[in-house]
Amino acid sequence: MPTYKYKLVSTQIAQLLKNAQTEISQVETLAALDDIRVKYLGKNGFLTQELKALGSLSPDERPVQGQIINQGKAEILSWLNARRQILQEVSLKAKLSAEAVDITLPGRLSHRGGRHPITQTIERICELFSQLGFAQVEGPEVEDDYHNFEALNFPKDHPARAMHDTFYFDSGLLLRTHTSSVQIRYMEAEKPPYRILVPGRVYRCDSDMTHTPMFHQVEGLLVDKGIRFTDLMGHLEAFLTMFFDPLKVDIRFRPSYFPFTEPSTEVDIRIGDGDWLEVLGAGMVHPEVFKFVDVDSEKYTGYAFGMGVERLAMLRHGVTDLRTFFENDLRFLNFFN
Ligand code: PHE
Repeated sequence: MPTYKYKLVSTQIAQLLKNAQTEISQVETLAALDDIRVKYLGKNGFLTQELKALGSLSPDERPVQGQIINQGKAEILSWLNARRQILQEVSLKAKLSAEAVDITLPGRLSHRGGRHPITQTIERICELFSQLGFAQVEGPEVEDDYHNFEALNFPKDHPARAMHDTFYFDSGLLLRTHTSSVQIRYMEAEKPPYRILVPGRVYRCDSDMTHTPMFHQVEGLLVDKGIRFTDLMGHLEAFLTMFFDPLKVDIRFRPSYFPFTEPSTEVDIRIGDGDWLEVLGAGMVHPEVFKFVDVDSEKYTGYAFGMGVERLAMLRHGVTDLRTFFENDLRFLNFFN
């Protein structure tokens, strides 16, 4: 038996195995590991070539050599698998740590929005009057002279028009100076009795601590049979008391003048030791106004009022400068939510 030949071949295999083992133990990536597999076990791999060479051996050499080669193959395969497992774990760990979320980081705060204090005040006013059966309606902010002035008994050149510092458009239209214009629009469209509340923006060319060119009013109109001035006083007093609750409020009715009401009054209020502040104008609907909208003033009487929303909000929340409502400073606005 040419034993040296076995040895020669098996020494070659042993060397191949040694090389493969070293290479496999040093390889760092799965792709490179697969290259090693191909290099040794692939179609033209070293061990595959050895197997192909078996044919040239003698029949008694063949099984011995074949067994050695197959054992070598099995060995390499087990090293490849073991290394693959390690590399897969390493790559998984790397991936996980790259994608890791640091749960100790502080969360992102989400900011809650809230309704503007003026909106909240309007809602509170409407809510209280809805208990007296007042329905909420709205009207246009761009008005004509007829609805803003004329039908409210402001004749042309009437001095009371000058009090309104009106913004006019070139077309002759204007920005309504009060929500009283909606009294006219509503009475034109509907038959009495009326019990409406009209919140909305109004505009006057005026700006200081207690005036902004745009502000809000809520208009009230109650027309029915037998409505008297004492109804007006009683309703307004009940409203103001509830609106400012739990603050104690003093209420003062002053005689006043509006072309569209007769008699007319202005209402001032005082919180605690504070100053008196005018918050609304009111009066009995003038018979001339009823004429414009074709309501029989022999049959119906009624009252109307218009209140300044900002003024009421200022008094209720102790705000001293009206303009802060419109600067949209979140530190101010958040105070109300
Ligand atoms: N429209 C008046 C104003 O803006 C307020 C008012 C409304 C007065 C209704 C009487 C009746 O000053």
